[in-house]
Amino acid sequence: MFTGLKRLEYRGYDSSGMCIDAIDAPTPTGRRESASGDGLANGISADGTSSSNGRVEDRSSPIIVKCPGKIENLENLTAEYVQQHNLDTSKVYKHHVAISHTRWATHGVPSSINAHPQVSDANADFVVVHNGIITNYQALKDILKKNGETFVSETDTETIPKLLKFAYDSMTAEAGSGEAQVPFPKLVMEVLTKLEGAYALLIKSRHYPGELVACKRGSPMIVGIKEGPDGSSSSSSKVSSGGLGRAASITRLRDQYNDSHWTGALEAWVASDASAVIEHTKRVVVLEDNDVLHIVGGGYGIYNTRQADVETAVPRRLQVLQLEVDQIMKGGYEHYMQKEIHEQPEAITQSMRGRVKQQKSAEGNPYLQQRIKLGGLVETRDTIRRSRRIMFVACGTSYHAALAARQTVEEMVEVPVVLELASDLLDRCCPIFRDDTCVFVSQSGETADTLRALEYAKARGALCVGITNTVGSAISRATHCGIHQNAGYEIGVASTKAYTSQIICITMMALALAEDSISKRERRDAIIDELGALPDKMRSFMQVQDVAMKELAAQLKDSNSLLFFARGNNYATALEAALKCKEVALIHSEGILAGEMKHGPLALVDEHLPIVVVATRDSMYKKMESVIQQLLARSARLIILCTAGDATMQEYAKRSDCQLIEVPGTVEPLQPILNIVPLQLLAYHMTVLRGHNVDQPRNLAKSVTVTD
Ligand code: UD1
Ligand code: BG6
Repeated sequence: MFTGLKRLEYRGYDSSGMCIDAIDAPTPTGRRESASGDGLANGISADGTSSSNGRVEDRSSPIIVKCPGKIENLENLTAEYVQQHNLDTSKVYKHHVAISHTRWATHGVPSSINAHPQVSDANADFVVVHNGIITNYQALKDILKKNGETFVSETDTETIPKLLKFAYDSMTAEAGSGEAQVPFPKLVMEVLTKLEGAYALLIKSRHYPGELVACKRGSPMIVGIKEGPDGSSSSSSKVSSGGLGRAASITRLRDQYNDSHWTGALEAWVASDASAVIEHTKRVVVLEDNDVLHIVGGGYGIYNTRQADVETAVPRRLQVLQLEVDQIMKGGYEHYMQKEIHEQPEAITQSMRGRVKQQKSAEGNPYLQQRIKLGGLVETRDTIRRSRRIMFVACGTSYHAALAARQTVEEMVEVPVVLELASDLLDRCCPIFRDDTCVFVSQSGETADTLRALEYAKARGALCVGITNTVGSAISRATHCGIHQNAGYEIGVASTKAYTSQIICITMMALALAEDSISKRERRDAIIDELGALPDKMRSFMQVQDVAMKELAAQLKDSNSLLFFARGNNYATALEAALKCKEVALIHSEGILAGEMKHGPLALVDEHLPIVVVATRDSMYKKMESVIQQLLARSARLIILCTAGDATMQEYAKRSDCQLIEVPGTVEPLQPILNIVPLQLLAYHMTVLRGHNVDQPRNLAKSVTVTD
């Protein structure tokens, strides 16, 4: 469980917690304090016993350990607890349910009390971990308070276990002692009707020993299934329908396997993403919104609260992950961000694999010019071309990628292109029409703002296209069509390889849409030829720039502020470079559209403030040269990012003592892909030299699955 949590730590890392059963441990004498010392329920659970009325009860409370900080703290605290209480860790149990969580604080500061699991009461009747936000939590809290409940934490999550307990107690009281216990998933479904907002929940209860219920709406969740003594499985993944409840679930899983394969043993790993599961199994089910997963007695069943008959299991496909453990390890690198920067030549190659044809077949024949093949857009290509406008919607780095490629789409498709930050689009209730194409760009495919914007656009009848790095993600599934980036797992919170790969994908999309245009053919061919050369160009300067940027980082690391000036599609380079410096190096920095320089930013210029000017050889070159002259006239401290071997820039450098960052030249639409690489390296090295956490920067999370 700790390994799984560490794999997910990139999603949130300010506090963590876990809850396990402690079967066979000495029966607790009275109530104990939890290891977190926050006065929450804790104890040691015993094996469930069946009473005559069929109810399964667990007499004591589970162990809960929680603390602020890294998973390492949780490991240490747990080890201390185990030692103090003499728990036998060598025992193997037939049934065991454990849940854990790594938190990114939204409601309440990072602390032991606010960390998850959250519990229903001092005995921990119901224990819950939650990813997402319950938006109506205040109203629920008020109702529960009126019923005499007291709240320990500041979280929205605490309302959930309390509601579960409330519902369980009322349903049990109503049913009377002779009745069978309400099935666990049914109880959870009852409570879900009261929740608004987004959630992925794991729930365990001492009333249901050996059972787990997981459910989701809005936030991602997968379950990895490992069965048989050696994890071997039959080929069938058929899920037959069965009724909600224990016996039905067990039978159903058995139905999936030949008797010879079925051992009765099941390990199920439920997590927010595949990285936490991959060590155990590659066979996963991606849960859909409103799914309720019930794991019990060596089997599982999935129900959906939106289907007419909630008591009948829904079929969900068991998929095999195309992910290897070493893809989520650091390899020989010290940090994920460093590894991912260096992986970029390979990542963009993967994004283009099977999609970009290098040879010009049937030279001269305009009808046989298909050199870009995007399987995902074949059916919708004409609709996109006929759109009234193309709107890109994204957040953070993904927005910058759309900005970097906007001009290429405008030039190739000749349809108005607009860019929207997802949160702003929603805030403004931006008008969207049926003849719009909306392209949602998201590395994770699960950013809440982008996902909400997608729902908004879909409801207005727009064609929704996804560009995402995560197959099976919410955005990949909810869009009408799209392009998978295939850039490989990105773990560092600061996005690097996903950015360059997104620019490649949007550029490929523009080129595919312009396929029939004879007037664009020459330009299109030039860009496609350069796409082929790009990975090697990137490789050729990566090592040299790594050393050079480390030196430059040493000079700039104590700066209070950094500016990046650019124009044209490199405006995105300036914004993205500034974002990297902010998010990981924790240096104030701004990306400035050089055309706006005279309208304010020039006032900041003096001999101390470092300014990086992007002036590679493209259509903006002359204008950028003029910017350089104006800045030098004000004694600015300049670093010029230019095309390798540019004699004019070398002359400026000599005369004015400014530094150069030289990158290989390419066609204008692809230049931002090369230009960003040294600036990513600069941000990386400044972060290391300043002693900050590279992969888990302060206050940030990789996947922002909450809005507001
Ligand atoms: C697909 C296969 C790839 C295979 C190739 C062979 C998948 C995921 N990809 O790649 O393994 O090598 O065919 O030709 O099976 N989609 C969305 N929204 C998104 C992203 C994608 O709806 O945000 C849809 C696409 O429209 C398409 C499907 O998902 O229907 C797969 O997309 P993509 O992987 O990009 O397609 P191919 O490149 O053809
Ligand atoms: C977060 C990440 O803010 O989400 C950024 O820290 C990322 O790196 C942004 O650019 C958008 O994420 P996604 O997954 O939608 O591209």
